[in-house]
Amino acid sequence: MPDLRSDESPVGSLLVLLLHGPNLNLLGEREPHVYGTTTLADHVATARACAASLGLELEDHQSNHEGELIDLVHGARGRCAAIVINPGAFTHSSWALHDALAAFEGPVVEVHLSNPDAREPWRRTSVVAPVATGSISGFGGIGYELALRAVAARVAPT
Ligand code: DQA
Repeated sequence: MPDLRSDESPVGSLLVLLLHGPNLNLLGEREPHVYGTTTLADHVATARACAASLGLELEDHQSNHEGELIDLVHGARGRCAAIVINPGAFTHSSWALHDALAAFEGPVVEVHLSNPDAREPWRRTSVVAPVATGSISGFGGIGYELALRAVAARVAPT
């Protein structure tokens, strides 16, 4: 069993990879009526504080490139305790991301700020959901906090 604790993290904290997919770098400016006015940096800062309160350490990345996200998922294998991912529009199309997440051994939580099921029909299919431990949609940034609480419940030593 790999040691999932980060070398740089305080003793006892578990490393969680927070990934954001395409166009999420534009949060705050992009379709604020759908995604709100909070920037990605602010979402990540709130998530980091939440993680710390749960005894988790957060490593975060955003990419507009499918292959880069896949490489980041591969890099989490044997190193991170869990992945929290908002895959953006790759949610609906990327079987390659699906396969990468399937190869990750820990819990995977899919997060969406909006509720894709209540939007256009093409958003109603998630190819990530079948390999996620669970999915949280429609609660805005609180979704990241809910996801981290779910991760803590799964991975924290009892
Ligand atoms: C999203 C929902 C996706 O359908 C969309 O392509 C996004 C954002 C969300 O967080 O609500 O880019 O993942």
